[in-house]
Amino acid sequence: MPGETVTLQIGQCGNQVGLQYWSRLALEHGLQADGTTQPYPISEVENHLNDPSTGYRPKRSERDDRLDLFFNLTESNKYTPRAILVDLEPSVVSKATAELPMFNMRNRHLCENGAGAGNNWKHGYEYGLNHQEELIDIIDREVDKCDNLGNFQLIHSIAGGTGSGVGSLLLELLNDRYGEKSLINTFLVFPSNEKASDVVVQPYNTVLTLKRLTEFSNGTFVFDNDALNAIEETSLNYDRNRRFTSKSTAYAEANKLIALALASISNPIRFPSYMYSSMESILLSLVPTNQLKFILTAVVPHKLNEQDIILESINNRYKLNTVTGPVKYITMLNYVIGNNVNQMELKKGLMRINQKVDFVPWCPRSINLVMGKKSPYIRERTSAGLQASNNTSIIHVLNKTLNHYDRLAKREAYINYYTDSNNREEISRVMDWFNECREEVQKVIDEYKQAQDISYLDEVEDYGDDVLDMEEDAQFEDDPSQLLGL
Ligand code: GTP
Ligand code: MG
Repeated sequence: MPGETVTLQIGQCGNQVGLQYWSRLALEHGLQADGTTQPYPISEVENHLNDPSTGYRPKRSERDDRLDLFFNLTESNKYTPRAILVDLEPSVVSKATAELPMFNMRNRHLCENGAGAGNNWKHGYEYGLNHQEELIDIIDREVDKCDNLGNFQLIHSIAGGTGSGVGSLLLELLNDRYGEKSLINTFLVFPSNEKASDVVVQPYNTVLTLKRLTEFSNGTFVFDNDALNAIEETSLNYDRNRRFTSKSTAYAEANKLIALALASISNPIRFPSYMYSSMESILLSLVPTNQLKFILTAVVPHKLNEQDIILESINNRYKLNTVTGPVKYITMLNYVIGNNVNQMELKKGLMRINQKVDFVPWCPRSINLVMGKKSPYIRERTSAGLQASNNTSIIHVLNKTLNHYDRLAKREAYINYYTDSNNREEISRVMDWFNECREEVQKVIDEYKQAQDISYLDEVEDYGDDVLDMEEDAQFEDDPSQLLGL
């Protein structure tokens, strides 16, 4: 039985991506910007039967989409996203709610006079800690509106202060209060590192947040700004004559891609058929162990036939994370979203990629298929595709972060941003803690490396011992409020 999804969008990136995401969902469910519904479209079949000579008038179909899992219906008969908007400065959320007034204004948590967390995890975490009761209030209020809460989903960047710091605190809070009853999955944007990173301490924020994700998330979908920028430049109906004039315009394109991926992931939940109609079932098929829970996506555009959609899903140019070198898949879920899908073409596509892709040796070469229904409000004739997969290309994304981290940490550069004083003892205490968080990220990389070997399963069999070892390892003091003197 699928349950409701409550979304938390945190910081600039979280709220900008969130705005695109809800705009996409509104489009797919025929909602106007203020949350009022448009009549459910007449199906193509019914339209066909329309024949004035016989007096037959096409009937509107009954709504069979599950927009109620993502939206609340208010007393004034308007749909409002089950979304909580958090930021330490008001401008991004104000813009979002002006553009999409369907957002519930009571679900905003803003620091009205604030200027953000200054790209500092510590400031974000500290702010969250000092305002946890207000945050819990909003979350509890939203959960109370659910009949059967299914999952929380967080949208945030891993590098900025609010997305990383408040995001980390929210992960802890959600896990404490709801971890037993519901899933927590996250949509995470990695910074662009190819060019010089725009904020020098990003690697510290990233490592501290990743540590919390390894602990508290049930599945983390990773998007990488470098890959998103490259996609915009090469494909997906990109208008080559257009030149980006400002950063926010560039993000707008990237955010549409992320939003499309997010919306496609939940397509079988919102337009249910007989499989994958809950986030739990989607995560179950993608996350084989709690140590391998980073999920990568590729968005395949319209205009291709079904065989091409499947084939293109393994093409690196459509991946929303950077891929270097060969990729080994652990799990793979291929979505084809359309009506009147050509089964023969689909089958051919599946057979062909089965020959092309490498899976890790210990798992079945199972390419799972999601046959998604297209929104009746979208009249494109072609199908579109999405691939969500657990694969070893995450090693590159995480390694890149650790390389940047090591360069800073080696010189203890900017560590004073995270300490109250230049006291030597305090600096080395904080540095030690940062390095222990770094080691947790290293463990994820090692796990993905080991997963490429046939012996991986043996290690999972000894898992009981491993868990004990890991619990012992994890005994390092990891209480940010103590360590950072908050
Ligand atoms: P503070 O401003 O420090 O309080 O935190 P924040 O969470 O608001 O920061 P922000 O979300 O701006 O995080 C910075 C990182 O996110 C940088 O790596 C940016 O490149 C990236 N980023 C910011 N906005 C967007 C966006 O709208 N889309 C994408 N894809 N990335 C973004
Ligand atoms: Mg900000």
